Amino acid sequence: MNIKGIQRKEVKDKAELARAIQKLKKKKNAVILAHYYQKKEIQEIADYLGDSLYLAQQANKVDNDIIVFAGVHFMAETAKIINPSKKVLLPDLKAGCSLADSCPPDDFSAFKAKYPKAVVVSYINCSAEIKMLSDLVCTSSNAKKIIESIPKDQEIIFAPDKNLGSYLNKETGRNMILWEGSCIVHEAFSFEKIVSLVKSYPNAKFIAHPESESPVLDIAHYIASTSGLLNFVKKDKAKEYIVATEAGIIHEMKKCCPEKKFIPAPVQDDTCACSECAFMKLNTLEKLYHCLSEEFPEVKMNKKIMDAARIPIKRMFELS
Ligand code: 13P
Ligand code: SF4
Repeated sequence: MNIKGIQRKEVKDKAELARAIQKLKKKKNAVILAHYYQKKEIQEIADYLGDSLYLAQQANKVDNDIIVFAGVHFMAETAKIINPSKKVLLPDLKAGCSLADSCPPDDFSAFKAKYPKAVVVSYINCSAEIKMLSDLVCTSSNAKKIIESIPKDQEIIFAPDKNLGSYLNKETGRNMILWEGSCIVHEAFSFEKIVSLVKSYPNAKFIAHPESESPVLDIAHYIASTSGLLNFVKKDKAKEYIVATEAGIIHEMKKCCPEKKFIPAPVQDDTCACSECAFMKLNTLEKLYHCLSEEFPEVKMNKKIMDAARIPIKRMFELS
């Protein structure tokens, strides 16, 4: 195939692709940031592998000319906002996010106008336009800390994840006004099937990401961001875990704890692989190779939006 006049190289296997990516990375002074939900071969090739906060922090530190973001669009967008003069590449521009899509900027603007005194805290899983309308950004790793930095009597709007928002309301004793967005992956878990799986693995601990629905969170032994869940299984004494988050994290869990067993939490629909994020999985090693080789697709953004969206992101870094 010929893209932008550049002849695509036929690449045979994953090992060859991985070697070719490493070579290109050096030649072009590029860095690869990858989220735990990426395919395992992409996780393996990353310079930095982590959760949303860690990846945003690394994007804030790196001095490479090119950032290849193996994640979804809002993550690459955040890296671009922090690094307006760098080239930020996303292997597949269609790698979106149901949660980010559940909060259209015009609707959110009208919602925000109903609460003129409210401070807006947005979960990083949202578009740059929503970040622009926010006072603070947070991730699931630092959300509690960010919310607790706001005076107790201050009205807060939390967007876009209603599940994370209601979990944070319980954790902090606040009554934040919630935008009704959600993640399709974390809402796919079946409470009934999890209860029955927990019964059949009496020694297993059930761990969950706070994007899951509240009945699921109510029965979890431990709730945290992807890196929080990973750190928990490393330190905890149990030998078996039922994991309610995107199944990609299990690759790193198995690498860190090869003697332990990790079971992906069951989903409602047996016919789909719904505990895998179809957006995250759009990125492949082959697309990553081609995007680095052709420096395309690139994340391009309007300067005004970037400048405004940078403010709440920088506030998050200061508070983290
Ligand atoms: P964290 O990696 O911050 O836990 O986020 C999970 C997620 O859904 C990313 O899309
Ligand atoms: Fe978005 Fe959910 Fe996929 Fe994360 S797992 S990128 S929140 S759809």
